[in-house]
Amino acid sequence: ENDILEDTEQKTHKTILLGDSGVGKTSLLVKFDTGKFQSGNFSATVGIGFTNKIVNVDQTRIKLQIWDTAGQERFRSITHAYYRDAHALLLLYDVTNKTSFDNIRAWLGEIREYAQGDVVIMLLGNKADCGPQRAIRREEGERLAREYNVCFMETSAKSGQNVDLAFLAVARELKYRQ
Ligand code: GTP
Ligand code: MG
Repeated sequence: ENDILEDTEQKTHKTILLGDSGVGKTSLLVKFDTGKFQSGNFSATVGIGFTNKIVNVDQTRIKLQIWDTAGQERFRSITHAYYRDAHALLLLYDVTNKTSFDNIRAWLGEIREYAQGDVVIMLLGNKADCGPQRAIRREEGERLAREYNVCFMETSAKSGQNVDLAFLAVARELKYRQ
Protein backbone atom coordinates (compact mmCIF):
# COMPACT_ATOMS: atom_id res chain seq x y z
CA GLU A 1 0.00 0.00 0.00
CA ASN A 2 3.01 2.27 0.42
CA ASP A 3 6.11 2.31 -1.72
CA ILE A 4 8.35 3.95 0.81
CA LEU A 5 7.32 2.46 4.13
CA GLU A 6 7.42 -1.31 4.01
CA ASP A 7 6.47 -2.26 7.47
CA THR A 8 4.55 -1.22 10.57
CA GLU A 9 5.75 -2.78 13.77
CA GLN A 10 2.88 -4.37 15.68
CA LYS A 11 4.45 -3.54 18.98
CA THR A 12 3.64 -0.30 20.79
CA HIS A 13 6.63 1.09 22.65
CA LYS A 14 5.75 2.68 25.95
CA THR A 15 7.86 5.81 26.31
CA ILE A 16 7.80 8.00 29.41
CA LEU A 17 8.83 11.62 29.94
CA LEU A 18 10.48 12.15 33.34
CA GLY A 19 12.20 14.95 35.22
CA ASP A 20 11.56 17.73 37.72
CA SER A 21 8.53 19.99 37.50
CA GLY A 22 9.04 22.84 35.07
CA VAL A 23 11.84 21.33 32.95
CA GLY A 24 9.54 21.24 29.89
CA LYS A 25 8.22 17.68 29.55
CA THR A 26 4.72 18.74 28.49
CA SER A 27 6.11 21.47 26.23
CA LEU A 28 8.44 18.99 24.50
CA LEU A 29 5.62 16.53 23.84
CA VAL A 30 3.25 19.25 22.62
CA LYS A 31 5.95 20.57 20.30
CA PHE A 32 6.61 17.09 18.93
CA ASP A 33 2.90 16.37 18.53
CA THR A 34 1.61 19.71 17.19
CA GLY A 35 4.68 21.79 16.33
CA LYS A 36 3.44 24.48 18.70
CA PHE A 37 4.99 26.09 21.78
CA GLN A 38 3.03 27.98 24.40
CA SER A 39 5.01 30.45 26.41
CA GLY A 40 3.53 32.36 29.31
CA ASN A 41 2.02 30.95 32.48
CA PHE A 42 3.32 27.57 33.47
CA SER A 43 0.66 25.11 34.58
CA ALA A 44 2.09 21.99 36.18
CA THR A 45 0.81 18.65 34.96
CA VAL A 46 -1.39 16.97 37.55
CA GLY A 47 -2.64 13.73 36.02
CA ILE A 48 -0.92 11.36 33.67
CA GLY A 49 -1.80 10.74 30.06
CA PHE A 50 -0.35 9.57 26.79
CA THR A 51 -0.09 10.58 23.15
CA ASN A 52 0.36 8.02 20.38
CA LYS A 53 2.87 8.93 17.69
CA ILE A 54 4.34 7.04 14.78
CA VAL A 55 7.98 7.62 13.91
CA ASN A 56 9.52 6.33 10.69
CA VAL A 57 12.84 4.57 11.09
CA ASP A 58 14.43 3.09 7.97
CA GLN A 59 11.23 2.02 6.19
CA THR A 60 9.54 0.90 9.39
CA ARG A 61 6.80 2.67 11.30
CA ILE A 62 7.59 2.57 14.99
CA LYS A 63 4.63 3.17 17.30
CA LEU A 64 5.42 5.22 20.38
CA GLN A 65 2.93 5.62 23.20
CA ILE A 66 4.38 8.66 24.94
CA TRP A 67 3.38 9.25 28.55
CA ASP A 68 3.69 12.72 30.06
CA THR A 69 4.16 12.55 33.83
CA ALA A 70 3.77 15.12 36.59
CA GLY A 71 7.20 16.20 37.84
CA GLN A 72 6.05 17.50 41.20
CA GLU A 73 7.34 15.50 44.16
CA ARG A 74 3.86 14.68 45.49
CA PHE A 75 3.06 12.69 42.34
CA ARG A 76 6.27 10.62 42.38
CA SER A 77 4.73 7.45 43.80
CA ILE A 78 2.11 7.43 41.02
CA THR A 79 4.81 7.88 38.41
CA HIS A 80 6.81 4.89 39.71
CA ALA A 81 3.94 2.58 38.78
CA TYR A 82 4.43 3.51 35.12
CA TYR A 83 8.16 2.72 34.97
CA ARG A 84 7.90 -1.02 35.26
CA ASP A 85 6.69 -1.83 31.75
CA ALA A 86 8.28 1.17 30.01
CA HIS A 87 10.47 0.52 26.97
CA ALA A 88 12.02 3.98 26.82
CA LEU A 89 12.51 6.95 29.12
CA LEU A 90 13.21 10.54 28.16
CA LEU A 91 14.75 12.15 31.23
CA LEU A 92 14.80 15.94 31.13
CA TYR A 93 16.58 18.67 33.01
CA ASP A 94 16.43 22.41 32.37
CA VAL A 95 19.79 23.90 31.31
CA THR A 96 18.86 27.12 33.19
CA ASN A 97 18.07 25.27 36.44
CA LYS A 98 21.03 23.69 38.24
CA THR A 99 18.81 21.89 40.75
CA SER A 100 17.00 20.07 37.97
CA PHE A 101 20.40 18.92 36.66
CA ASP A 102 21.67 17.87 40.10
CA ASN A 103 18.46 15.85 40.59
CA ILE A 104 19.21 13.73 37.49
CA ARG A 105 21.34 11.38 39.60
CA ALA A 106 18.38 10.76 41.90
CA TRP A 107 16.12 10.21 38.89
CA LEU A 108 18.57 7.68 37.46
CA GLY A 109 18.61 5.94 40.86
CA GLU A 110 14.82 5.65 40.81
CA ILE A 111 14.94 4.41 37.23
CA ARG A 112 17.41 1.71 38.23
CA GLU A 113 15.05 0.71 41.03
CA TYR A 114 11.74 0.71 39.18
CA ALA A 115 12.38 0.30 35.46
CA GLN A 116 13.38 -2.73 33.39
CA GLY A 117 17.12 -3.32 33.04
CA ASP A 118 17.10 -2.93 29.26
CA VAL A 119 15.04 0.27 29.14
CA VAL A 120 16.26 2.84 26.58
CA ILE A 121 17.26 6.04 28.35
CA MET A 122 17.74 9.42 26.68
CA LEU A 123 18.99 12.33 28.80
CA LEU A 124 17.80 15.71 27.49
CA GLY A 125 19.03 19.16 28.50
CA ASN A 126 15.97 21.24 27.58
CA LYS A 127 15.55 25.03 27.14
CA ALA A 128 18.76 25.17 25.08
CA ASP A 129 17.38 28.39 23.53
CA CYS A 130 17.94 30.26 26.82
CA GLY A 131 21.43 31.65 26.21
CA PRO A 132 21.98 34.19 29.00
CA GLN A 133 20.22 32.22 31.73
CA ARG A 134 22.09 29.01 31.03
CA ALA A 135 23.53 27.40 34.18
CA ILE A 136 24.64 24.02 32.82
CA ARG A 137 27.06 23.71 29.93
CA ARG A 138 26.50 21.12 27.23
CA GLU A 139 29.74 19.36 28.26
CA GLU A 140 28.38 18.80 31.78
CA GLY A 141 25.33 17.06 30.35
CA GLU A 142 27.51 14.99 28.02
CA ARG A 143 29.77 13.97 30.90
CA LEU A 144 26.86 12.87 33.09
CA ALA A 145 25.34 10.89 30.22
CA ARG A 146 28.67 9.16 29.57
CA GLU A 147 29.01 8.30 33.25
CA TYR A 148 25.62 6.54 33.20
CA ASN A 149 26.03 5.18 29.68
CA VAL A 150 22.89 6.86 28.33
CA CYS A 151 22.25 8.91 25.17
CA PHE A 152 22.25 12.70 25.39
CA MET A 153 20.98 15.72 23.48
CA GLU A 154 20.18 19.33 24.18
CA THR A 155 16.68 20.33 23.10
CA SER A 156 14.38 23.32 22.97
CA ALA A 157 10.62 22.96 23.02
CA LYS A 158 10.54 26.65 22.11
CA SER A 159 12.76 26.69 19.00
CA GLY A 160 12.16 23.03 18.16
CA GLN A 161 15.88 22.24 18.31
CA ASN A 162 16.41 18.45 18.34
CA VAL A 163 12.78 17.75 19.34
CA ASP A 164 11.98 15.43 16.43
CA LEU A 165 15.52 14.08 16.56
CA ALA A 166 15.22 13.08 20.23
CA PHE A 167 12.10 10.99 19.60
CA LEU A 168 13.59 9.61 16.39
CA ALA A 169 16.72 8.55 18.26
CA VAL A 170 14.60 6.75 20.84
CA ALA A 171 12.58 4.99 18.13
CA ARG A 172 15.80 3.98 16.38
CA GLU A 173 17.22 2.51 19.59
CA LEU A 174 13.97 0.61 20.17
CA LYS A 175 13.96 -0.78 16.66
CA TYR A 176 17.53 -2.01 16.66
CA ARG A 177 17.88 -3.07 20.27
CA GLN A 178 15.01 -5.51 20.39
P1 GTP B 1 5.41 19.48 35.25
O1 GTP B 1 4.19 19.19 34.46
O2 GTP B 1 5.10 20.22 36.52
O3 GTP B 1 6.23 18.26 35.57
O4 GTP B 1 6.36 20.46 34.35
P2 GTP B 1 6.83 20.21 32.84
O5 GTP B 1 8.15 19.52 32.85
O6 GTP B 1 5.76 19.57 32.04
O7 GTP B 1 7.10 21.71 32.29
P3 GTP B 1 6.30 22.51 31.16
O8 GTP B 1 6.40 21.83 29.85
O9 GTP B 1 4.94 22.80 31.65
O10 GTP B 1 7.18 23.85 31.04
C1 GTP B 1 7.45 24.69 32.15
C2 GTP B 1 7.72 26.10 31.69
O11 GTP B 1 8.90 26.15 30.93
C3 GTP B 1 6.61 26.67 30.79
O12 GTP B 1 6.42 28.03 31.12
C4 GTP B 1 7.18 26.53 29.40
O13 GTP B 1 6.69 27.52 28.51
C5 GTP B 1 8.67 26.70 29.63
N1 GTP B 1 9.48 25.93 28.66
C6 GTP B 1 9.38 24.61 28.39
N2 GTP B 1 10.28 24.23 27.48
C7 GTP B 1 10.97 25.34 27.15
C8 GTP B 1 12.06 25.59 26.25
O14 GTP B 1 12.59 24.73 25.54
N3 GTP B 1 12.52 26.89 26.19
C9 GTP B 1 11.98 27.89 26.95
N4 GTP B 1 12.49 29.10 26.82
N5 GTP B 1 10.97 27.68 27.80
C10 GTP B 1 10.47 26.42 27.91
MG1 MG C 1 3.92 18.90 32.51
